Amino acid sequence: MADAVGELTEGVEIRDGSTIIRAGAGLAVIVAQCRPEVEAEVLAEIEAVAGRLKAAGVEAEPLSVRRREAHEDEWRDVWKQYFRATRVGRTFLVRPSWDPRPAADGDRIIDIDPGRAFGTGGHASTRLVIGLCEELEDRRVERFLDLGCGSGILSMVAAQLWPAARGLAVDIDPEAVATTVENLERNRIATVETRVGVLRDIPEVSDLVLANIEAGVLVPLAADFPARVVPGGSLVLSGLLAEQAQAVTDAFIAAGFALESRRDEDEWAALSLRR
Ligand SMILES: C[S@@+](CC[C@H](N)C(=O)[O-])C[C@H]1O[C@@H](n2cnc3c(N)ncnc32)[C@H](O)[C@@H]1O
Repeated sequence: MADAVGELTEGVEIRDGSTIIRAGAGLAVIVAQCRPEVEAEVLAEIEAVAGRLKAAGVEAEPLSVRRREAHEDEWRDVWKQYFRATRVGRTFLVRPSWDPRPAADGDRIIDIDPGRAFGTGGHASTRLVIGLCEELEDRRVERFLDLGCGSGILSMVAAQLWPAARGLAVDIDPEAVATTVENLERNRIATVETRVGVLRDIPEVSDLVLANIEAGVLVPLAADFPARVVPGGSLVLSGLLAEQAQAVTDAFIAAGFALESRRDEDEWAALSLRR
């Protein structure tokens, strides 16, 4: 149902017993925002999917649909109540503009407004990369690449760990790149360039490459990474479910990398590899 509705709408959220905002016991709620002109089509699709489920003998009752008018900014802002200043890794404090918690001695501050881009430090896949970057802090990094930059959070981490380095933040999503630009300015970081694109659009070779994307995207790209990492350079991969980590490791070893360390948090895993 969510897939079908998702094709017609601007965004879909599923709530059930395992999500931050829960649905009632035994229930699943699909929240979707659509433009007024496609509302009738969305409602018809819901009925059609419900009909197909019933015909296939799937118990989809009781199904109810509630509609409400909302402004785009309201949808965009709902999640903000869940993003508070968060300590990440040993030294980072990630702060949204609406929770400007004072820094303690030694804190490295990242002020962030992720907009609709991913990357508040609240997700384990981001935190795992930040922890692995801190492990690499003594390495010489003159150039880094943040592939799939989202909000730009990892670029801002790297720019603080290696202040003399030049960074490149890249995302396939122009909105993410625009958000990264804003966040870099907010943090007065002028050492990171931004670009909309994918790995093949990047001729630069880096000492450190960070890629928190997902296994399904990263594995097919494994053979394209070595040309973007200097010999002896580091590659940190995240966004992997723990059960995918071994297959991802194997693919990147086959591409010429060696595994240096792996970290796990919740059901997520991240790898630190060396070329
Ligand atoms: C999980 S978010 C990571 C955001 C941020 N780097 C972090 O660690 O929190 C993954 C990002 O990768 C981007 N992305 C997905 N596929 C991509 C690809 N093939 N090339 C570049 N970026 C991609 C998405 O648009 C998204 O912004």
